[in-house]
Amino acid sequence: MSNDPSAVNRRNFLTIAGSAAAAPVAVSGDVAAQQGRQVSTPAATMPVTLDVNGSTQRFDLDPRTTLLDALREAAGLTGSKKGCDHGQCGACTVHVDGIRVLACLTLAVSLEGREVTTIEGLRGPDGALHPMQQAFIDHDAFQCGYCTPGHIMSAVACVQEGHARSDDDIREYMSGNLCRCAAYPNIVAAVRQARDTMGG
Ligand code: FES
Ligand code: FES
Repeated sequence: MSNDPSAVNRRNFLTIAGSAAAAPVAVSGDVAAQQGRQVSTPAATMPVTLDVNGSTQRFDLDPRTTLLDALREAAGLTGSKKGCDHGQCGACTVHVDGIRVLACLTLAVSLEGREVTTIEGLRGPDGALHPMQQAFIDHDAFQCGYCTPGHIMSAVACVQEGHARSDDDIREYMSGNLCRCAAYPNIVAAVRQARDTMGG
């Protein structure tokens, strides 16, 4: 997962926002002022432009919107799954500038101008499946399939990182992706096959 220290992730954001939350905003509207009430302002939106699967897309988002919610709800790309929404299952894994990240912990507005690739963007220009997608089919590496997009995005990055040279490596570097159906042996076999095809 991304360790880019410059990236604003949801944990950092919540840490900052948490201290601000103790000081509610006082609104100077006549009625509120007369009644001495404090009310919070509605969240303003922020523009952000992302390259999503090779297409430039502009969004106006509440700055608290995660990349996962932006993809699923604003861009209509529902391949990336929301499993835990807390960085624990890997179902939301996508690539940002070729690096795997957890979309549920990444704020969309922190990614201005960056390249985001989701499972929908993995296939080739001719529509052919990516070797990792084909390997998951060949090895029956899923049952319900809910974890599969995240597993495949992580597995592609795992091979590109050079972390798929042995089965132990594959298990270690795929350990952030959980599968409730326990298809792990088939997943390792699929990653091994794709690694050989991809030359990783
Ligand atoms: S939904 Fe992001 S890690 Fe579980
Ligand atoms: S195939 Fe069902 S959770 Fe992995």
